[in-house]
Amino acid sequence: MDQHAIGFRRATEHDQRAIRALVRGERLNPTRINWPNFLVAAMADRVVGAAQIRRHSDGSRELGSLVVAKDLRGHGIVSRLIDTLLADEREPIWMITPESHARIYARWGFEEIEPSAAPVKVRFNWRIGSLARIVSFVRRLPRRRLVILERLPVERRKSAAKAAARAIS
Ligand SMILES: CC(C)(COP(=O)(O)OP(=O)(O)OC[C@H]1O[C@@H](n2cnc3c(N)ncnc32)[C@H](O)[C@@H]1OP(=O)(O)O)[C@@H](O)C(=O)NCCC(=O)NCCS
Repeated sequence: MDQHAIGFRRATEHDQRAIRALVRGERLNPTRINWPNFLVAAMADRVVGAAQIRRHSDGSRELGSLVVAKDLRGHGIVSRLIDTLLADEREPIWMITPESHARIYARWGFEEIEPSAAPVKVRFNWRIGSLARIVSFVRRLPRRRLVILERLPVERRKSAAKAAARAIS
């Protein structure tokens, strides 16, 4: 694949239908799929990847709707989308992911937390996602345990690490 053929940009209203189709095609959380929150990867006129930061009414924000067209996976597209979305982030961000994939997000500073430590709205989405496992069970689809990850601003990560080191020594 020619990496240069892919462009990364903020979504426009013309991308709404394509974003929704990508998200629905993968059984991801179908709520709050609103183009103004999305960054997309596009090849000419085709939207081939998407990711968003959801803004919840309790003030918390959640990285989600990570999706790349099946034929273009494994080329770093979602990594570029996440890099760009998080580049200027100075506030905490949460995300919900299958436990089996949680380690991938450590490179962006995400760490697993107890659901009880997450903001109410993030915890609510985690519960809904976890309930979807029951549907998967009934329909004999693969079931995936979900976890909540938290990404603190760099300064807070450093001070938490120092406090942990002090506690050990
Ligand atoms: C997950 C997904 C967005 C990855 O997109 P991608 O552009 O192929 O990912 P990248 O090429 O940037 O790879 C990023 C990392 O994700 C990992 N990855 C690849 N496929 C993955 C998958 N299905 N689920 C989770 N992680 C995956 C890769 O191993 C890579 O790690 P590495 O650099 O150590 O090899 C894509 O596989 C997809 O759309 N999956 C279906 C929807 C989904 O499961 N979204 C995640 C919800 S949390």
